[in-house]
Amino acid sequence: MKKLVVVTGGTGFIGSHTAVELMEAGYDVLIIDDLSNSRIEVLDGIERITGRKPLFEKFDLCDRVKVTECFKKYTGIAAIIHFAAHKAVPESMDKPLMYYENNLLSLINLLRAMKEYGVKYFVFSSSCTVYGQPDTLPVTEKSPIKKAASPYGNTKQISEEIIQDVVSAGDPIQAISLRYFNPIGAHPTAYIGELPIGIPLNLVPYLTQTAIGIREELQVFGDDYNTPDGSAIRDYINVVDLSRAHVVSIDRLLAGKNKSALEIFNLGTGNGLSVFEIINSFEKATGIKVKYQVVGRREGDIEKVWADTSLANNELGWKAVIPLEETLRSAWKWEQYIRQENNG
Ligand code: UFG
Repeated sequence: MKKLVVVTGGTGFIGSHTAVELMEAGYDVLIIDDLSNSRIEVLDGIERITGRKPLFEKFDLCDRVKVTECFKKYTGIAAIIHFAAHKAVPESMDKPLMYYENNLLSLINLLRAMKEYGVKYFVFSSSCTVYGQPDTLPVTEKSPIKKAASPYGNTKQISEEIIQDVVSAGDPIQAISLRYFNPIGAHPTAYIGELPIGIPLNLVPYLTQTAIGIREELQVFGDDYNTPDGSAIRDYINVVDLSRAHVVSIDRLLAGKNKSALEIFNLGTGNGLSVFEIINSFEKATGIKVKYQVVGRREGDIEKVWADTSLANNELGWKAVIPLEETLRSAWKWEQYIRQENNG
């Protein structure tokens, strides 16, 4: 019998790609999502790729009664991957309570239900935002956690602390926290991808929307950073590579191969790329020129960050392998596909 993995936030960007990778690796998937920032049609995309529809429950994980009912209904849950969360940094500055309530209550409800119903294995979506601007690069998992620059970032820090406290208290939970760098790209089929609602906040969706003509020009936030070309540097990782790390993490937990009750891994490529390098690589990969203008720095942005991935490579046995140009082409293919779908 196939093992059942719950994917919260499974109709979202990383969640949907992870659902596909899990199903292709032979797991059954139950997606829980309240569709507050995603669309139900994502389930069709997953089915088109895998030939199977995942199980689906629509509810808000902050509703403790609904969480309990779900665990009662699905008795064979082997593991949980918890993606569901609010994730927009500026929005979290305007609505901190909404972020603390949503991101922390959902986590607490899940961990409580796991204990009550004897579900042992947990993978958590964390972020490199917990490192702030690191003093040394590349950043390792042992680098100090800096004061969070936003309530969003703080919810990721507090969530990791909550998980640590729960496992330290002797609850039988075994967890892996994955600290993502900058996930970009889309599934190579273009049946699923990133669907920002409204004006995109992140670089690559803004870039592809500019390339297709929805946005007039891309704004480059600052060219006066202390970097070789003056624009800020990030570690951009293909979402399919990133998703595969979740399958590896689930395999590891289920096989009892984890070395401690809470393990933490950086998920990046290990390469830092500037905004200009991303624009140039996109133009090279697609043959499309992108109109851009340099404007002032964006508030809250750090100058540079990229991952030391040796722990994920050596201990988890996972490595990002998809080349950047292929990743940018997949983002472009997705942008074209989704516009056609919306117009047709
Ligand atoms: N950028 C632009 N123009 C844009 C959008 C972004 O120049 O229109 C620049 C940013 O200034 C930054 C880089 O592109 O230098 C990447 O920006 P993103 O918004 O794509 O990503 P961030 O690194 O700011 O944010 C990401 C996640 C957050 C997470 C954070 C942790 O989106 O959820 O990493 O550092 F908290």
